[in-house]
Amino acid sequence: MASISASGPARGRPAGPSLRSALRRVAEAAVTPLELGDVFDVFHPLRGGRDGLQGRIVSVTAETAESATILIRPGRDWAGHVPGQYVRIGVDVDGVRLWRTYSLTHGPRRDRNLSITVKAIPDGVVSNHLVHRARAGQMVQLEQAEGEFVLPTPIPRKLLLVTAGSGITPVIGMLRNLFSRRVPVDTDIALVHVNQNESSAMFRDELRAHGTAGHLRLVERYDDRHGILDVDHLDELVPDLRERLTYACGPAGLLDALEKHHADRGLSLTTERFRPTLATLAGDGQSGGTVTFADGREVDADGATPILDVAEGAGVLMPSGCRMGICMGCVVPMTSGAVRDLRNGAITTAVPGETGPDGIPIQTCISAAAGACEIRETR
Ligand SMILES: Cc1cc2nc3c(=O)[nH]c(=O)nc-3n(C[C@H](O)[C@H](O)[C@H](O)COP(=O)(O)OP(=O)(O)OC[C@H]3O[C@@H](n4cnc5c(N)ncnc54)[C@H](O)[C@@H]3O)c2cc1C
Ligand code: FES
Repeated sequence: MASISASGPARGRPAGPSLRSALRRVAEAAVTPLELGDVFDVFHPLRGGRDGLQGRIVSVTAETAESATILIRPGRDWAGHVPGQYVRIGVDVDGVRLWRTYSLTHGPRRDRNLSITVKAIPDGVVSNHLVHRARAGQMVQLEQAEGEFVLPTPIPRKLLLVTAGSGITPVIGMLRNLFSRRVPVDTDIALVHVNQNESSAMFRDELRAHGTAGHLRLVERYDDRHGILDVDHLDELVPDLRERLTYACGPAGLLDALEKHHADRGLSLTTERFRPTLATLAGDGQSGGTVTFADGREVDADGATPILDVAEGAGVLMPSGCRMGICMGCVVPMTSGAVRDLRNGAITTAVPGETGPDGIPIQTCISAAAGACEIRETR
């Protein structure tokens, strides 16, 4: 009896390291050829310490006819976020894992869940899947939160928030976080929110409730009623805009105009873009070339389409993320050929024999073929 108690744990006491490792060896033998972690992943996919962070969809709630808020329970390794940041999400659509980026629409919540609000865009593969087909219980891949579109600390006395369409998403995260604090917010906030029409405006009632409660001054602008917002007349909507720190998120046209407006007046502006500004995307006669992918597939590409889009259009699975040149999630090695950076026209070349054997890393979401080129790795 004494020898049994010497080699095993006393009742109620935790197993010692030697017993734990013996048990682990038995368990590993039992699940071979699988890894023990693979088995844990099946029964407890949100556990910490696994390879790759996952999340489970808790609920999908319609916001408008074409948008929905998706509440996600992240795995234990989720490191938290600051309102205004975004998360990269990997979603399996028809058996293919696609990565997209979505702003977090809450501050850190007591229940630890994350929320994103997605607007389904015409022909959008992932956005339509998330809005119309995602269901509670489904798993998604996650990466840790990133992004610089966050309010400074301390929060300035006067803020101007300019948002359009789904560009309200990072801003609603900031506002929810501010207004959920026990201490009243000592910031004078003006929010100019633009949308095509009233019926498709996300968070409309919530924003109006904040306006009515005196939390912020809300200016609603609907294209079908007021016409397209001309930022040169912004000071008619917000007369003291020169005293305010401006944060803006929306389509490129609005942000470009706002950047010029603020630069001309020496005003501070922080923006978040959902799509990159691609200088040559409109097509300027730049010639493309044939792109050869790792699986040997050859696809003709024009000189204005990102190689990521070219690949996905041909059914080649590629790593991706923000699709706008910021996250590096799409970087693959090019072993030969030339690509053009669609943001600034810069050419990158890889010459076999001269370039190292591992090739030159390129960001496929903002690079177009500038002649024939060979991409080595795909996912
Ligand atoms: C930092 C960041 C935060 C973002 N936050 C949000 C968010 O909170 N909510 C949200 O709904 N989206 C957000 N997006 C956009 C999102 O990542 C996807 O681009 C969007 O959902 C479209 O993906 P898709 O697979 O449906 O479209 P795809 O299948 O990739 O594209 C379909 C077509 O639409 C075009 N397209 C792609 N993206 C856009 C776009 N954003 N606007 C207009 N046309 C587009 C493509 O060129 C293509 O022609 C964010 C993007 C970034 C970079
Ligand atoms: S997908 Fe983010 S940099 Fe290309």
